[in-house]
Amino acid sequence: MFPAYGAPMSASVPLLEIRRVTKAYRPPGGAPPISVLRDASLTVTAGEAIAIVGPSGSGKSTLLNLIGALDQPDEGAVLIDGVALSTLDEAALARFRRERIGFVFQSHHLLPHCSVLENVLVPVLAGKSATDDAVEERARHLLQRVGLGDRMHQLPGRLSGGERQRAAVVRAVIQKPALLLADEPTGALDRASATEIGRLLTDLNGLEQVTLVVVTHSRELAEQLGRVHEMRDGRLVQL
Ligand SMILES: Nc1ncnc2c1ncn2[C@@H]1O[C@H](COP(=O)(O)OP(=O)(O)O)[C@@H](O)[C@H]1O
Ligand SMILES: [Mg+2]
Repeated sequence: MFPAYGAPMSASVPLLEIRRVTKAYRPPGGAPPISVLRDASLTVTAGEAIAIVGPSGSGKSTLLNLIGALDQPDEGAVLIDGVALSTLDEAALARFRRERIGFVFQSHHLLPHCSVLENVLVPVLAGKSATDDAVEERARHLLQRVGLGDRMHQLPGRLSGGERQRAAVVRAVIQKPALLLADEPTGALDRASATEIGRLLTDLNGLEQVTLVVVTHSRELAEQLGRVHEMRDGRLVQL
């Protein structure tokens, strides 16, 4: 249903389009709804890297959840390759999340009892019962490229925060997603590790053409990425 990685459906269809999206949370017990997104729009072309900044509580994570099909907007639409996510059934959405989207969060969420290499292969195993040689080779290659070549058989607990986050980034791109969503990926790191993660994300964007949408508080990371949008009063404003 979706074109394969690296094969855009048409040059004129953006990879991601957020079209006038609104979203409110309705607290239980009849309290008034909390309006978070109000007419947010954004268009991202395949291969772009964009940063989303904005104050805490402004709706940045809410927006990423809508893009990643983890939640639905009240109004408006999220389109990937011109296909509105609201038109997909549960099975298609699950497949979309598994094959087309990679997620990186502030916390690495690595499984503590699996080696770094096993952690990187978890998304592959979610789709089938075994990994093949090619994907394992890709995992080893990527881990080497991010400086974890000699750590891949260790447990995540033995790694530094920056190394764990590098492993989490490799896990997010193992299946060659078209779109990598990162929610404050450097928020828990020291400055040097944060710079490394920023460089890794932009390297992946350049080498693999993975499109990046990165929520960040870091001015440095936002500048590394290029196009910056700010979440302001529930709308996205390009800076
Ligand atoms: N599941 C939820 N239920 C109720 N309110 C929520 C929920 N998720 C987020 N919110 C509220 O929505 C607003 C935006 O949250 P969020 O998208 O996490 O902001 P950001 O990521 O920019 O810090 C906040 O006021 C937050 O408390
Ligand atoms: Mg957030």
